[in-house]
Amino acid sequence: PRPILLTRHGESQDNVKGRIGGDPVLSEAGEKYALKLAEFVKRRLKNETTASIWTSTLRRTGITARHIDWFSKVEWKALDEINAGVCDGMTYEEIKESMPEEYAARKADKLRYRYPRGESYLDVIQRVEPVIVELERQRSPVVVIAHQAILRSLYAYFMDKPLKEVPHIQVPLHTIIEIKMGMTGMQEKRYKLME
Ligand code: F6P
Repeated sequence: PRPILLTRHGESQDNVKGRIGGDPVLSEAGEKYALKLAEFVKRRLKNETTASIWTSTLRRTGITARHIDWFSKVEWKALDEINAGVCDGMTYEEIKESMPEEYAARKADKLRYRYPRGESYLDVIQRVEPVIVELERQRSPVVVIAHQAILRSLYAYFMDKPLKEVPHIQVPLHTIIEIKMGMTGMQEKRYKLME
């Protein structure tokens, strides 16, 4: 069966500062991950004649994909990270201090909470639907290099997780989640390439 490999981009300069959203480039560790990811894909998909690499339109995913230059690439706007609206570029601490009601509302219902002029997880789950349709039609492996909220949504769909769990699924940096349709349902393997 054809695997789907899911990964977040390498650590970004905003991840280091704890800032959400934005369009940052990678940290030094993130650059190292980009190299390790390419080596991993080379080994894992060595017997595949075709496979494709899907990224978002944000720089950190394209940069993470750039050493994988032997498979074709597709950029999806629908894979861009959750839009944090007026909170884009802030840290959680800053949101808590300057917009305590927003912070509390998100904490109380992270699935439905919509950032002012931004999105909720429910919005994101709807937005990635066309990507899921295409993923299901693919006959060859796909490597999806995207973002935390996006990958939570894709993962939950394939692994059949309840909606209320989606915003809390663990999708750490520098880890590849491989999912495959097995005899007894979807199977999952995780490869942690770096700390
Ligand atoms: O911090 C990285 C990040 O991708 C942010 O850009 C995004 O807002 C956040 O994760 C999504 O995670 P959560 O829904 O847990 O805030």
